Amino acid sequence: MKIVACYNVKGGIGKTAAAVNLAYLAAYEGTRTLVWDLDPQAAASFYFRIKPKVKKGSKGLLTGKKVLEDVIKGTDYSNLDLIPADFSYRNLDLQLDETKKSDTRIQKLLKPLAGEYDFVFLDCPPGISLVSENTLIAANVVIVPTIPTILSLRTLDQIIDFCKKLDIDHAKIIAFFSMTDSRKKLHKQIVKNPPQYVRVLNTSIPYASDIERMGVYRQPVPVFAGSSQAAKAYRALWKEIKITLT
Ligand SMILES: Nc1ncnc2c1ncn2[C@@H]1O[C@H](COP(=O)(O)OP(=O)(O)OP(=O)(O)O)[C@@H](O)[C@H]1O
Ligand SMILES: [Mg+2]
Repeated sequence: MKIVACYNVKGGIGKTAAAVNLAYLAAYEGTRTLVWDLDPQAAASFYFRIKPKVKKGSKGLLTGKKVLEDVIKGTDYSNLDLIPADFSYRNLDLQLDETKKSDTRIQKLLKPLAGEYDFVFLDCPPGISLVSENTLIAANVVIVPTIPTILSLRTLDQIIDFCKKLDIDHAKIIAFFSMTDSRKKLHKQIVKNPPQYVRVLNTSIPYASDIERMGVYRQPVPVFAGSSQAAKAYRALWKEIKITLT
């Protein structure tokens, strides 16, 4: 079982869009796939049309009253399951802090599922928190959608520093450019000359209205716009990420 975290300190840059589309593509290929929506905003749960509700909430999971297996829901797609978000996840940070070995709890919760799934996608909330630390530790690879702007590159730098400070192998951090706009000179320049201190994938996800439309259809892009530029980009991205996992 390989764990792929979609993470960035920044909000609104395409983490959930990536988690949903990549997980769909993985499942479509026949690999057993799970998405864990860790964000109380519950966007991934919304896209998969699943009510954001976890029985006994995050506290139930952290105190062992519920195990992850109990709260998994099937989606409309074969091979694709989801652990929905829950409003209680807004306190996940504080609750994790009260547990022993608080930085490896998410890893520990996922361990019993190792035989059940080939890929687990963690849709992380933005920010730098104990939840982020947990996901960075649990993940085999952390994909970081990055808008090609100077401030976003600075954030990428901060994520690498955060890993170094916590003694997390920062080689698992893999960026890709998100919401790229080929009409913008700076975007083009940054995509052409990506930073050298972190691995950046060749595939960029363009700014595309089909991605925004996921909210209208409540479906992954390949389902309602299979031959769109956005769907093609996510397919290429998944191909690249898969290679890093083998
Ligand atoms: N490449 C893109 N082109 C156009 N719109 C996009 C693209 N990626 C994401 N969006 C839109 O931008 C908004 C934010 O995207 P998304 O929810 O994936 O970001 P996020 O990083 O998960 O946000 P948050 O930090 O709030 O969880 C959504 O409305 C989504 O439809
Ligand atoms: Mg999100």
